[in-house]
Amino acid sequence: MFENLKEHPADKILALMQTFRDDPRDDNVDLGVGVFRNAQGATPVMQAVKQAEQRLWQQETTKSYVGLTGDPAFADAMIALLLGDAVARARIAAAATPGGTGAVRQGLELIRMAQPDATVWVSDPTWPNHLSILKHLGVPTRPYRYFDNATGGVDFDGMCADLEAAHPGDVVLLHGCCHNPTGANPTMAQWAELIAQMQEQGLTPFVDIAYQGFGDGLEDDAAGLRMVASEMPETLIAASCSKNFGIYRERAGILLAVGDAGAARDLTQGNLAYLNRQNFSFPPDHGARLVTMILTDAELRAMWQEELEQMRRGMLDLRRQLAEELRRRSNSERFDFLAEHRGMFSRLGTTPENVEKLRRDHGIYLVGDSRMNIAGLNAETVPHLARAIVDAGI
Ligand code: LMR
Repeated sequence: MFENLKEHPADKILALMQTFRDDPRDDNVDLGVGVFRNAQGATPVMQAVKQAEQRLWQQETTKSYVGLTGDPAFADAMIALLLGDAVARARIAAAATPGGTGAVRQGLELIRMAQPDATVWVSDPTWPNHLSILKHLGVPTRPYRYFDNATGGVDFDGMCADLEAAHPGDVVLLHGCCHNPTGANPTMAQWAELIAQMQEQGLTPFVDIAYQGFGDGLEDDAAGLRMVASEMPETLIAASCSKNFGIYRERAGILLAVGDAGAARDLTQGNLAYLNRQNFSFPPDHGARLVTMILTDAELRAMWQEELEQMRRGMLDLRRQLAEELRRRSNSERFDFLAEHRGMFSRLGTTPENVEKLRRDHGIYLVGDSRMNIAGLNAETVPHLARAIVDAGI
């Protein structure tokens, strides 16, 4: 039977990771996959995670099953981190998932069970795996304009105009902060307008938040999401702990469904447990447990927040340095938007040919749509990249 299988196009981001590894040149710059790197190019285990692991090793007495939707303490800690006190706990159903991708997948499956003919509207562009999972599940998908190549900002008018074609019951997939791949994010006033439009048209937001703390800080990065969840009747939220806790391979994430309290919430919670059971039974526990320990212990939490803040400020510094260097070398302000973007990524807004030129002639690896991982840069590679961008005539 295996001969009936069809080949699938390789995930662009993961394929690029391999091309980089296979490139024999030794001064290459990897700005591909979204993994945080420090100035030495390493992705270290965060101190708070190391300490939590040490405590866990001493304290943990069993590895027996927890629950189909994970440890309720993880849900409580993550709800507090994501939503603060914006939404009553009684309105929220929650399920731990294998990473943020698992949460996206379970969320889309929940939509398919609850509203099979809903169209999911996605930003153009979005994280390629959103599109891949939607296609795999056979969920009808439509794009909405999002990025303005000319300004490097959000094409908010285009976004709202495209969403006008959505039908009641459709779902709008949004990035909570640090939009991947563009780095361009709506302002709070735009979030408010979007909420009004979604309310008027009877649309349901599904907010994917994978980079809380990487943009303007833990609280500010969640502000749009909190407004959505408190003002919309129903909201889905997929959150990842991979980046802000640096526990990529542990696969810690959570899916939240905010709706009516009481029987409606219990029904949703039961469906989340059912979905986890069908797909993988119990979610991974190790990463989720570390996150819970860090978020609920004052000492570990302070340590984590400080390190996260250092990472965030480092990325902002790199953005400013790159924008300044490009301003000087190109004698123009056309790259200033790089300093305005937030999170790990920025979309340069150039052609695949130019992206290829950067790779071939300068050993600089960007994703084909000209997304670059700012955290892959350091003080030495910023001038190298700026020179290459100008040389390539971008
Ligand atoms: C990325 O966008 O590079 C990351 O989210 C890693 C991934 O799984 O694609």
